[in-house]
Amino acid sequence: MRKRIGKNDPCWCGSGKKYQDCHLELDEKIRNYKLRGYKIPPRKIIKNQEQIEGIRTSGKVNIAVLDYVAENIHAGMSTEEINRLVDSKTRELGGIPAPLNYEGFPKSVCTSINDVVCHGIPSEEEVLQDGDIINVDVSTIYHGYFSDSSRMFCIGNVPEENKKLVADTLESIQVGLSEVRPFNRLGNVGAAIHEFALGKGYRVVREIGGHGVGLEFHEDPFVSYVTRRDTGMLLVPGMVFTIEPMINLGTDEIFIDEENDWTVYTEDGAPSAQWEVTVAVTEDGYEILAY
Ligand code: MF3
Ligand code: CO
Repeated sequence: MRKRIGKNDPCWCGSGKKYQDCHLELDEKIRNYKLRGYKIPPRKIIKNQEQIEGIRTSGKVNIAVLDYVAENIHAGMSTEEINRLVDSKTRELGGIPAPLNYEGFPKSVCTSINDVVCHGIPSEEEVLQDGDIINVDVSTIYHGYFSDSSRMFCIGNVPEENKKLVADTLESIQVGLSEVRPFNRLGNVGAAIHEFALGKGYRVVREIGGHGVGLEFHEDPFVSYVTRRDTGMLLVPGMVFTIEPMINLGTDEIFIDEENDWTVYTEDGAPSAQWEVTVAVTEDGYEILAY
């Protein structure tokens, strides 16, 4: 049993403000949703202003690292070189690359080329070819706060169909973001992305999704992109999570590399694209903290 917080007690969020001047009103609203059967966010994933600011600053490092990759990526370089760029830039800016040693992941960034859906491991042997599409997924720990975002890069002369997949996947992020506002439900974010992708003739990966982020690398909720409308967790101000759909030109079936237990491929070998943003739910909509 949790002892009820008095309205003059300090708020549970750690802001230092009186409960009645902080989260009391929101809690009452959330309680009403809960009584109506909604899945509601646990308190530990609702961030206060100071924490949002910390994640925002971490996100600025993440963005700068991806900008640096964008300036330097080119055909003929190995994915290990991308790893070195990400590692050195992150540390130069005072951050730590979150993937390194995360559950045994051996590198500082994920690099996923063509039919690799996600969690590609940088390697000296893997060299970027003209016509490749690649996702570079960067995650930063800065002063204890986590941010996570990824971008696609088209290397040289990319087939029109693949270029379009990359552009449409970016657009799907905007479609998802249009559903991010307080007291909407998370399922609508995924449903909007799924409907958009299916409408373009693509398939969306079901097994892997986004996640809460900020105080840890991966927090609740799981963010799926194949959800139904009016399902899923209630969105409330202070929640921070990623939107990172993986959209396939062919089948949505995938398999995991048995050698490294990380890298995810499309079953049919057709290309897959992914973009990722870290987004905060605000009082009246959303704020992108990393892209
Ligand atoms: N950035 C990936 C994500 O979006 C991280 C995967 S875990 C790692 O969740 F160890 F591979 F980095
Ligand atoms: Co992520």
